[in-house]
Amino acid sequence: MLTLEEQRQTAPPAGTGPQKEQAVQRMFSSIARYYDLNNSLLSLGLHHSWKSQAAAHLIVDSRVVLDVGAGTADLALLAARRLGEHARVVAVDLNGPMLAIGLQKVRTARLQRQILCVQANAERLCVPDSVFDAVTTGFCMRNVANLSQALQEIRRVLKPGGRLICLEFSHPVAGWLRRLYDWYSFTLLPWIGTRLSGDTTGVYQYLPASIRSFPDQNGLARLLREVGFQKVEYHNLSGGIVAIHLAVK
Ligand SMILES: C[S@@+](CC[C@H](N)C(=O)[O-])C[C@H]1O[C@@H](n2cnc3c(N)ncnc32)[C@H](O)[C@@H]1O
Repeated sequence: MLTLEEQRQTAPPAGTGPQKEQAVQRMFSSIARYYDLNNSLLSLGLHHSWKSQAAAHLIVDSRVVLDVGAGTADLALLAARRLGEHARVVAVDLNGPMLAIGLQKVRTARLQRQILCVQANAERLCVPDSVFDAVTTGFCMRNVANLSQALQEIRRVLKPGGRLICLEFSHPVAGWLRRLYDWYSFTLLPWIGTRLSGDTTGVYQYLPASIRSFPDQNGLARLLREVGFQKVEYHNLSGGIVAIHLAVK
């Protein structure tokens, strides 16, 4: 196992471009089978509530929904359950191993008629314009190589009036929480995460670095407006550790 310092040096870049895409994909391939367990442990179970709150923003008569960066399919499952048997959810992710676990969970839930798992890149979705009533995305946008491109692509595939629900780590609002969270995410989380998963790709160093370099609440709202979304608003969860951005095409 690499030391934390060695992992810090090999961690995926939190920048942009194909180098980031490859590094991020290597990282998710390596942690896929521990992803759900680690998520629950490292977020103290909070990720379930964050995802439920995101899914609650889906308008109930949505019929065709896209979940981008679906990973192990938690949000896709929540969306399918919320919208009922007449709705269809397309769960896309670039990473085969993450999506394979998602597909397994979809089968276990007997929701394979409702949820279609497809391997695809958020920056180049192979679907025509204006197809989806809503797009959900959970903790993916931080990882894409070109954020602006991914947001434009999501807007392209939404129907006019369709809604993006973007759940992502953000920036805690209160100073004391920011300091506590920085200590947790830069010190404790890499230590625990690495020991639990035996990870050698530096994912638990990448995680806090990618959160810090991702736009804050207002920065993401600005970017959403720049790519053409309207009625952009956001809701902080857990004091701003996470935010849900809502935007309409
Ligand atoms: C932190 S996981 C989130 C998974 C799931 N949405 C959740 O909330 O648990 C991020 C996911 O985004 C995927 N991802 C990263 N870049 C992507 C891209 N360009 N296109 C599609 N998926 C991508 C990764 O493969 C990974 O499965």
